[in-house]
Amino acid sequence: MQIITSVSDMQAHADALRRAGKRIGFVPTMGFLHAGHLSLMGRARQENDVVVASIFVNPTQFGPKEDLDRYPRDAEGDRQKCESAGVDVLFTPAAAEMYPEKPVVFVAVEGISDILEGAIRPGHFRGVATVVAKLFNIVRPRTAYFGQKDFQQCAVIRLMVAGLNLDVEVVVLPTVREADGLAMSSRNSYLDRSQRQKATCLFRALSAGEELIKSGVREPDKIRQKMRAVLGREKGVEIDYAEIADADRLTPPETLGGRMVLLVAVRIGSTRLIDNLLILC
Ligand code: PAF
Repeated sequence: MQIITSVSDMQAHADALRRAGKRIGFVPTMGFLHAGHLSLMGRARQENDVVVASIFVNPTQFGPKEDLDRYPRDAEGDRQKCESAGVDVLFTPAAAEMYPEKPVVFVAVEGISDILEGAIRPGHFRGVATVVAKLFNIVRPRTAYFGQKDFQQCAVIRLMVAGLNLDVEVVVLPTVREADGLAMSSRNSYLDRSQRQKATCLFRALSAGEELIKSGVREPDKIRQKMRAVLGREKGVEIDYAEIADADRLTPPETLGGRMVLLVAVRIGSTRLIDNLLILC
């Protein structure tokens, strides 16, 4: 596996691969890799000639009071995981390499970036869209792979790709879960033992919402209330939101139908966790 840290080296390498007719599959990450990331790398390996993964903890998607400084890192462990997953090129630029100057150019995906996660983390999706657009220009992938766990992020990236006519196919793969349903996330490492137990409430709330829909309930408010009730039962869990939305635009539905998504976000101590379930009804 080749490790590249410079933007110009990565671009030159990607250009040479493209000229040689190679199909590049790309898995962008912020590192501290878990089974969710490895499933993306596994799919990229199956579908492409060359797999590029990036590890970059992107400062522009963190708010001033968020966890940029303590975001978990494990450079050597990540390198080994990428190697075992069949990654050909690991791109690990420093922040000064990606943003040599204070950035003045941003990609904004309006509307969807201001609701749900965006309402609680202003500027977050502008940072995500900007860095993903930059990474696409540097790595020049044919296909890029993202996890459904970050459902709104996937929707923002799809809209960005369509809106800017980017020549990249976006593939979203299902959330990988622990045995008790907790969605894999690098941020799970912040949880102590008792918080880790409480964290199962996200999946329990989503499952309760899904059950209600399956039993024939069609009023969005009843589903929201059910999910809030399950989350609210857990002491020390602060609810940011428990929502049901149209799966493409993430707007709240008047009645249920088609592709819907249940979305929850909570804070347990100083850790924010999100999760979602896609529902066809
Ligand atoms: O999902 C992530 O890890 C990040 O938001 C991403 C897509 C790598 C952009 O920094």
